[in-house]
Amino acid sequence: MVLRVLELFSGMGGMHCALDLSGREYEIIAAIDINPTANLVYASNFPEVSIINRSIETIPLKQWEKWSADLWTMSPPCQPFTRQGKQEDLNDRRTDGFVHLMKNILSQLNSKPKYILLENVFGFQNSDAHQLLLHTLQSNHYSYEQYLLSPIQFGIPNSRLRYYLIAKQQDQLNTNASVLQTRISNFDRLLTKLHEQFPSKCGGSYDKNSLHRNDQITDQCSHSSEILIDSNQSMLINDFLVSNENSEFELDDKQLKRGLHVCDIITCHAKRSFCFTKSYGKYFEGTGSLFRTETDRIRYFTPKEIANLHCFPQGYHFPEEITNRQAYALLGNSLNVFVIGVLLENLFERC
Ligand SMILES: C[S@@+](CC[C@H](N)C(=O)[O-])C[C@H]1O[C@@H](n2cnc3c(N)ncnc32)[C@H](O)[C@@H]1O
Repeated sequence: MVLRVLELFSGMGGMHCALDLSGREYEIIAAIDINPTANLVYASNFPEVSIINRSIETIPLKQWEKWSADLWTMSPPCQPFTRQGKQEDLNDRRTDGFVHLMKNILSQLNSKPKYILLENVFGFQNSDAHQLLLHTLQSNHYSYEQYLLSPIQFGIPNSRLRYYLIAKQQDQLNTNASVLQTRISNFDRLLTKLHEQFPSKCGGSYDKNSLHRNDQITDQCSHSSEILIDSNQSMLINDFLVSNENSEFELDDKQLKRGLHVCDIITCHAKRSFCFTKSYGKYFEGTGSLFRTETDRIRYFTPKEIANLHCFPQGYHFPEEITNRQAYALLGNSLNVFVIGVLLENLFERC
């Protein structure tokens, strides 16, 4: 059976890319997002998908009945819940789309999706929006599992601790659904695929298990992350680079003066990088790591390299009219495709 998928808050299409990893036959019946830049990038990568440039809260129930989707994927806006923001939660108008989905759509729909996958920032789990989500799922006979996971747990050298929920209608996913799990199983198949996609570039000359002197970063977000792989499976920043040197992305003298003091600077041997946010390239502090090249130049990671760290497929691209700033903003809002792939694997396994 071809899985009918609605990609809600679709951004640059991270969920779509993760579905490709799942091996399931699927069709994205619509991708919905109000950001024209995101939609342009999405369309350039997936021209066959119908993209709806419209607020979710303006789409009436009858349209959702018509779609009759099997799976909803969603990454609702995270600003109402981030530590840097005002944490206005449900009082922030940016949650309107999510609230509409919970109260006016999922609760009323005859053709409810069998599966739901939701991603949000660390912190969402303490919000009223989270309470609304769990309450709506329970009253509509979904069982669910909740996770806090970061790519670094799978040996991907990037911290991005996120809240995830997978839900299935009328099934026992987990008897203890209220527990936030920080471990997940069932990822070996995808890990093999990932290592094929980003093979080690070290050629055996470098000991992957030793830390480099520059590989010392503090990421407050990853405090609860437990490493789930053997140490010989961890990957290095080098495996995700397009090239070591790239003069176009080097910092100028003024930027160096400011950036050197507040930024994490890592080399190709690093096993970690700081979580890349939508302000990467705009501000330094807490927005993502900088890269020290072999000739000791300091540069930004390129958008393609961050997309690689997010495990987007090799063929994923940004159209020429998209500026680097725009690409960084989309990537900062996006997700790690591998981690979503693992969650889908776990969700579908319980079919
Ligand atoms: C966290 S990002 C989603 C990232 C996406 N999963 C990806 O892979 O890029 C949230 C997205 O929701 C969109 N959005 C915010 N409010 C919306 C609304 N009311 N209706 C539709 N889209 C909305 C934003 O434009 C943004 O692209």
